[in-house]
Amino acid sequence: MKSSKVRQKYFDFFTKKGHKLTPSSSIIPSDPTTLFTSAGMQPMIPYLLGEAHPQGKRIVNSQKCFRSQDIMEVGDNRHTTFFEMLGNWSFGDYFKKEQLGWVFEFLTKDLGLDPNKLYVTAFEGNGQIPKDRETVEIWQELFKTAGIEAKLNERIFLYGAAKNWWTRADSPESMPEGEPGGPDSEVFYLFDQITHDPKFGKKCHPNCDCGRFLEIANSVFMQYQKKDKGFIELPQKNVDFGGGLERLVAACQNQPDIFKIDLFWPIIEKLKEDLRVEYGDGQNSTASLRVIADHIKAATFLIKDGVTPSNKMQGYVLRRLLRRCAVKIHALPQGRPARSADGSLNDSRAWEANDILPKLVDPIIDIYQETDYFQTGDWDQIRQTIAEELIKFKQTLKRGLRQIKKIDKVTGKNAFDLYQSYGFPFELIEELFLEKGQKVSREEFDKEFKKHQELSHQGSFL
Ligand code: ALA
Repeated sequence: MKSSKVRQKYFDFFTKKGHKLTPSSSIIPSDPTTLFTSAGMQPMIPYLLGEAHPQGKRIVNSQKCFRSQDIMEVGDNRHTTFFEMLGNWSFGDYFKKEQLGWVFEFLTKDLGLDPNKLYVTAFEGNGQIPKDRETVEIWQELFKTAGIEAKLNERIFLYGAAKNWWTRADSPESMPEGEPGGPDSEVFYLFDQITHDPKFGKKCHPNCDCGRFLEIANSVFMQYQKKDKGFIELPQKNVDFGGGLERLVAACQNQPDIFKIDLFWPIIEKLKEDLRVEYGDGQNSTASLRVIADHIKAATFLIKDGVTPSNKMQGYVLRRLLRRCAVKIHALPQGRPARSADGSLNDSRAWEANDILPKLVDPIIDIYQETDYFQTGDWDQIRQTIAEELIKFKQTLKRGLRQIKKIDKVTGKNAFDLYQSYGFPFELIEELFLEKGQKVSREEFDKEFKKHQELSHQGSFL
């Protein structure tokens, strides 16, 4: 099943259950304390806290999300920085029983997923919030309807707050006063064609990182609010559901590599063709192609929502994405030589990131042309923004990489020089030295940065 069908089926399913379809908010939130919209919940905070949503108590949507904290995770079979989060919302209306029943119905009936391949989780409780027995019982009943006896630690797994508590903060303890949160219940899809890798632990389980299980759905029971002395119940019980569209499509196709689904594959194909490298198991280029495909898509969405590359805030993250792509392209293994129109072998590879990357905007427009995100857009401006940023970096990229090769021991000072003289974002310097087995100290780098700022400040008075 293709992504546009999965998206539409989700909208139809929840619209039939009385939900109003609402468009995605911008990827740049109006809340100035947060750089990016990283979950469907962010634009919904006022309604979770009790304000009336103009469209009512039941909402369905697909939210454009960007998670900068996942940049370094991209490269495996399932992580991306940009994704669409399908969401359904109850603002003080239905709760656990309806929600979990609908999730199960949608996944098994509308998407046709085999219930034997679905595994679920619930909150095991902590000192303040009790174990979520109700969720366990509801899941047991639901699996029973499919002829499956859902036993604990076989089909249903309990986890602590690190896995089964949702909030915008990192943990229940770090939630600021006033912040809403609650226990959640995730659904995982099992790719049984993959064997567990013991490097990730003795026994495989839904939250194992070996890649056999893929989280495809998360129902948050948003019913608590943090107060100075702990948690209180919110006046209304809410549901915040999030399911990554890319992952749902991968599950529908029983395809463990999400880069092979239609939301990514045309970008990878164009890259394969332009760079003349291979994609697939055992190919050195695979992780790099995934990173480039993900980052260029994220960059396109960010630029479309008004971000331009700079040294600050969202602009810095965009710069980091584009420059990381350039480094990845540069480091790719040599591809096959192309055959020119006259039949001769042309070995002069046009591997300049500023040529390759702007051209990827075209498959991205094709992929999203049916959505409201890309109905209109100044595509030339997006291509140009990408090209200009990479032309700037091109001047120093190769010299900077040569410099990194020459450095025997990284210090705050030489890392800062790479930032200052060659335009390498800190995180990229960190990554490149990690590949050489060296760790860059952020503290020492910041010290050099500060010294430099003080010197240039003094300079301005000379
Ligand atoms: N807010 C929940 C999540 O992002 C649904 O997983």
